[in-house]
Amino acid sequence: MHYLRRPDWAIPEREATSESIYMDRRRFLMGALGVLAGGIAGGSTLAGAAEKTSQGPRDPTLELYPARRNPDFTLDRPLTKESVAATYNNFYEFGPVKTIHFLAQRLKTRPWQVRAEGLVRNPRVFEIDDLIRSMPLEERLYRFRCVEAWAMAVPWTGFPFSALIKAVEPKSEARFVKLTTFLDRTVAFGQLRFWLPWPYVEGLTMEEAMNELAILATGIYGKPLPKQHGAPIRLVVPWKYGFKNIKSIVSIEFVKDRPKTFWETVGPDEYGFWANVNPGFPHPRWSQATERMIGTDERRPTQIFNGYGKWVTPLYPDLNDRRYFM
Ligand code: MTE
Repeated sequence: MHYLRRPDWAIPEREATSESIYMDRRRFLMGALGVLAGGIAGGSTLAGAAEKTSQGPRDPTLELYPARRNPDFTLDRPLTKESVAATYNNFYEFGPVKTIHFLAQRLKTRPWQVRAEGLVRNPRVFEIDDLIRSMPLEERLYRFRCVEAWAMAVPWTGFPFSALIKAVEPKSEARFVKLTTFLDRTVAFGQLRFWLPWPYVEGLTMEEAMNELAILATGIYGKPLPKQHGAPIRLVVPWKYGFKNIKSIVSIEFVKDRPKTFWETVGPDEYGFWANVNPGFPHPRWSQATERMIGTDERRPTQIFNGYGKWVTPLYPDLNDRRYFM
């Protein structure tokens, strides 16, 4: 993700660039020192930290994986290699580069609660393991398309967002769902970048959230989610650009008005609320006509709604309306 547009109060581009490079370097060093210190204290090394990327302490829901695969969702391309997907990530809480998988290990994912509240009859605070155990887990093979024109194909494990929504009984006034990521600057050094509107927020209309394709993922590649993929729970909406797929969710709020999302606040002309994949509507700074598969660098034509039009076309009355595709 690149942020070109800055709010009016931001410092000039030239100064901002040098400062951001300086801050990023400084925080990278702080983060690296943190990882190193953690490794030394635990009698481990950086190599040990790398191992934790895939292993980590035993997950309390480990025996639920792999879940039964739902045969309704098939792929037109090979799966992306697990090691590639797990080391090429966007998780700005831990920094603006793709190699944040080390730093993301700083996130503590237990205990973890998810609040579901707002315009609902039955507000709940879910303990994550109770939530995962109470929901119908399944595996789905989905394509995933980032707005930056890279793509992957991965097996998520999760449950339909609609199952959680039904459990809290939204009132008729609820028109949107607002999802929020954790905020902890002592863990996520990216959140020290004060000019970004933390915490990360995303949103969907109620119809989108209830769509059969929308899942809350708790696992990938037949295992609980690694931290860099957004443990312990993240959204997956495969017909939309990747930034809608918010990670490490702590709050799901049912609201009347459209929420202002993280990237929409940063760059309203580049990263909109709807963000549905469409090869015919280029990003202001690059084409969306094709996508690059990570791992193989194969180029493939982009498909409208990322190939999921069968499920979601009826949600969008005007396919020529640019608003829906940015
Ligand atoms: N969620 C949070 N909280 N923070 C982020 O920076 N990045 C988004 C999305 N969810 C992001 C996030 C973007 S831009 C993408 S492309 C996907 O996560 C990447 O998901 P992956 O790293 O699991 O492939």
